[in-house]
Amino acid sequence: MTEFKNDPRKLSADEKLNLLVEFGARISSELRLDKLLDIIAQQITRMLDVGRCTIYLKDAEKNELWSKIAQGRGLEHTEIRVPLNGNNVVAIVARTGQTINMPNAYEDPRFSMDVDMVTDFRTHSLLAVPLKNNSGKVLGVFQVANKADGTPFDKKDEGILLLLATLASSSIEIAKLYQDVHVSQLETIYRLAVTAEYRDQQDTRAHLKNISIISYLLALALGMNKKEAELIKNASPLHDIGKVALADNILLKPGRLTPEEFEIMKSHTIYGGRILEGAHSKVLQVAHRMSLYHHEKWNGTGYPKGLKGEDIPLEARIITVADVFDALCVSRVYKKAWKTDDAYLYILGESGKAFDPRIVVAFKKIYSSVRKLYLNQTPQNTESASVSQKPPVPTKEKSSLEA
Ligand code: C2E
Ligand code: SIN
Ligand code: SIN
Ligand code: FE
Repeated sequence: MTEFKNDPRKLSADEKLNLLVEFGARISSELRLDKLLDIIAQQITRMLDVGRCTIYLKDAEKNELWSKIAQGRGLEHTEIRVPLNGNNVVAIVARTGQTINMPNAYEDPRFSMDVDMVTDFRTHSLLAVPLKNNSGKVLGVFQVANKADGTPFDKKDEGILLLLATLASSSIEIAKLYQDVHVSQLETIYRLAVTAEYRDQQDTRAHLKNISIISYLLALALGMNKKEAELIKNASPLHDIGKVALADNILLKPGRLTPEEFEIMKSHTIYGGRILEGAHSKVLQVAHRMSLYHHEKWNGTGYPKGLKGEDIPLEARIITVADVFDALCVSRVYKKAWKTDDAYLYILGESGKAFDPRIVVAFKKIYSSVRKLYLNQTPQNTESASVSQKPPVPTKEKSSLEA
């Protein structure tokens, strides 16, 4: 089993065994499905010394097999999809659970040249084995092509590829589950956020999307890594979740709130904090800090606690810039939309007052991208909003929201 026949690099038995151990270790620690499949394909290409390894997974919902192109010609990460009921190699392997070994693929009617054509690759010999889980269910197909020494794949190769598929199957299943959970968590967050926002927004989706994009860009511009920035992006739609607790007569009041009404309005931060308090997941913990503190101001004049400076959690200092910018750019029942550039000037003017100066600097850096985002979305109602808003001259304006 440790003999890798025809391996031109002539690895010793020990080295081959090490490769196998390494294979097991590397794949068991990777939870991201895309990354995991990349690693598996790379390792197999190396271990079997083949020209290409492609991993197809079943998409039961669509009755298809899918794969991502791993290498070549700028097509990395392009998705290939194949109908599961088709007559080509991978579909047959996936349906029957049987191995297919073709010494010369182009002479076999079950081989389709489609993928070769787009990737500019010429398949000669081809071996495809089923990827099965512990209970024997087919999850997908491992396919390799072109042994480096030009000989056809033999029984030994079949055995090795099947073994590798077996080793990989539980990691793949776990990564798939993990991805499903992650996707459904994000979906739930997004739907919750829509629930909170739809009453007082004309275009909830655009609002939530813009805020999460701006927060993400701000986080990156502040030097956070992609993972941290994504957490902020994913949590940001929930910052106003506490608005679910507000009565319509306040939230939807077409015009200025009285000081008493504004006091009630402020409680949406407290409610949001309560709703998300004690959350277990990282993303909801970030959302908790955002919802409780997104109306705090750098100079200490915000609410609910009047926190100052860096006592305000960083995530909240980020979301507040995104939130105010977007709130200015769209219309509300109580105000018209501002011009994008006026909203920008307003943000700059609030540096050191409402906003952390560092984040305003970051906002300057990303503004050209942000601006494009808003130019592509014609505000449907810049002129049509009904309310008695003063003309938006941000540098002079005393906010209509300040009592
Ligand atoms: P929102 O509409 O999502 O606005 C979020 C924040 O953006 C506001 O927080 C404020 O900091 C900023 N903002 C929005 N519009 C303007 C504007 O025209 N001028 C200026 N200078 N800033 C603006 P804030 O003030 O704490 O308000 C929180 C929430 O309270 C608002 O969320 C909105 O839902 C509600 N609200 C505030 N004032 C009024 C009002 O006069 N009438 C009504 N119906 N609702 C209001
Ligand atoms: C949508 O569901 O229309 C997209 C929402 C989003 O991108 O946040
Ligand atoms: C802001 O600076 O956050 C807007 C002004 C206000 O809330 O009144
Ligand atoms: Fe808010």
